[in-house]
Amino acid sequence: MHLTPEEHAYLAGENGPAAQKAMQILATLGRIYGAQHMIPVRSVQIAGVSYDNLGEAGLAWLSEMAAGGGQAQVFTTLNPAGMDIENYQQLGIPEDFAINQRRVLAAFEAMGVVTTCSCTPYLFGNLPRFGEHIAWSESSAVCYANAVLGARTNREGGPSALAAALTGCTPAYGYHLDENRRPSLHVDVRAQIRDNPDFGALGKAIGDQLQSRGANRVPYITAVTDANLENLKSFCASLATFGGAALFHMPGITPEADHFSPPSQSMTITQDDLDLAKASLNNAEPGEIDFVSLGCPHLTLGEIQRIAQALAGKQVTKEFWITTSRPVKGMADRMGYTALIERAGAKFATDTCCVVAPIKGRFKALATDSAKACYYASAKNGSKTRLLSFDDVIQEATR
Ligand code: F3S
Repeated sequence: MHLTPEEHAYLAGENGPAAQKAMQILATLGRIYGAQHMIPVRSVQIAGVSYDNLGEAGLAWLSEMAAGGGQAQVFTTLNPAGMDIENYQQLGIPEDFAINQRRVLAAFEAMGVVTTCSCTPYLFGNLPRFGEHIAWSESSAVCYANAVLGARTNREGGPSALAAALTGCTPAYGYHLDENRRPSLHVDVRAQIRDNPDFGALGKAIGDQLQSRGANRVPYITAVTDANLENLKSFCASLATFGGAALFHMPGITPEADHFSPPSQSMTITQDDLDLAKASLNNAEPGEIDFVSLGCPHLTLGEIQRIAQALAGKQVTKEFWITTSRPVKGMADRMGYTALIERAGAKFATDTCCVVAPIKGRFKALATDSAKACYYASAKNGSKTRLLSFDDVIQEATR
């Protein structure tokens, strides 16, 4: 692998021990994946922020990198933390967890990482342009950046994303290269795809097929005629969760689709496939729901407006978390949506979400419109789930 004199200087420790460790990580990854050289990145998104996932070992590593003088060389944003930084007590997050979560955030801050604590950085300023090389972790955001924005990133882990932040580069392999962005499977959709649960179920149905046919497949998905921002972020989260996918093409919707023709290998997703995918995420009876959440991935301002309008004059009867980023919450505050939602008894869980917060064992059954949240509520927290439409989730919260 060819390294520039500047990259060799990083390896020699001339920029401090943290930057040296970062370049060692990237050079090792580059050798493993056969990269010829490093490529500069314009931005980084780091996942692995919740103390619930990191534990003391993860926190110790971050603290060591901060103490070693690590400094972000490019604009770097952060995935959700394990709690609302301002409002954690109201969400039932214990004080000892909050202390440790603050230590994690302090380590990132010391390294010049912007502690946005959101999985939708593209909604508030970390918005890569078409063709731009970036190094992002957070699988839903990676898929959105590659497929919807046409930026170029591999599916980084937390450590490799931090390494890219501290050096401003990443090895040139995988989705940074033209040849790996070609679709290899034509997926013809013969089912009605209208709302987030439909897109989530579609992501699961295709994702399951990708898993059974081998990793790193890029699907070329036809016959989906319309998708808004919210549908696409929901689809990306689901396709990445169930299929491990980091890129797809959808003619008429995603920007690189026109560069390719449908691959010869093909499969069809039928209405039955979609219904089966939905059924597999629905194992809770309506009467069992004791936790309701919207915002996986984090909500847009438009979605928060919809919640505020739907909750007008109503009272929620269950724990109802509205999960979003701090910048979007700021706009919701200004527009009066926050006040309307909180008056109805729902709670903002800003900076966090129902998956990364330490809530295992607190709730029996979750209702949400997110296939990804259903999967992790079950796998991580042992919770039952119901996948409902956005409006039905709100209705469930007020039932
Ligand atoms: Fe984001 Fe949490 Fe879902 S990080 S994609 S809201 S699991």
